[in-house]
Amino acid sequence: MKKLNLLSLMLAFLFVATLSLVSCGGGETKTNETDTEKTETEKPEVKLDLTAGKTIYEGKCQACHQANGQGLGDNFPPLAKSDFLKDKTATIKSIINGISGEIEVNGKKYSMPMAAVVLTDQEAMDVVNYILNSWENKYGSVTLEDIKAAR
Ligand code: HEC
Repeated sequence: MKKLNLLSLMLAFLFVATLSLVSCGGGETKTNETDTEKTETEKPEVKLDLTAGKTIYEGKCQACHQANGQGLGDNFPPLAKSDFLKDKTATIKSIINGISGEIEVNGKKYSMPMAAVVLTDQEAMDVVNYILNSWENKYGSVTLEDIKAAR
């Protein structure tokens, strides 16, 4: 009787151990699945459409910041390799709200105001992603949510 008890205890333990292993594994798979789903549903929004951004840039930014993103003279700062772009929120805000007051780009001070550029959320996202990823810039990307949050 004692032996049987011990055996059933061991069996029960094994059973519980297997169960928790299975449920843990199952749990993990589930998280992975939701993660994948999330990235997939977010993909279309985040997808970098540099073509659309380029067109907006050419129409609304290039006159001052130039096609090569180098800026112009002492007043128009560069976007190519600009350390200002590392702060995505500041970048979005500067474009949709304009900039007044002194800023510093790559150690150089600029103080001519930039007027706000009127853009839809989509256009703002496209043009920001264009400047973040052009002229060898690799500053990541922004989403529509980032634009909305910055407005
Ligand atoms: C009429 C000229 C003009 C136009 C058009 C213009 N900017 Fe600017 N931009 C400026 C000036 C001047 C500054 C510097 C502001 C300051 O010194 O306070 C600036 C600064 C910036 C900065 C921050 C500094 C830097 O170089 O990283 C960003 C980012 C920027 N502009 C992006 C854009 C984008 C994107 C567009 C088009 C949607 C645009 N600008 C259109 C003149 C312009």
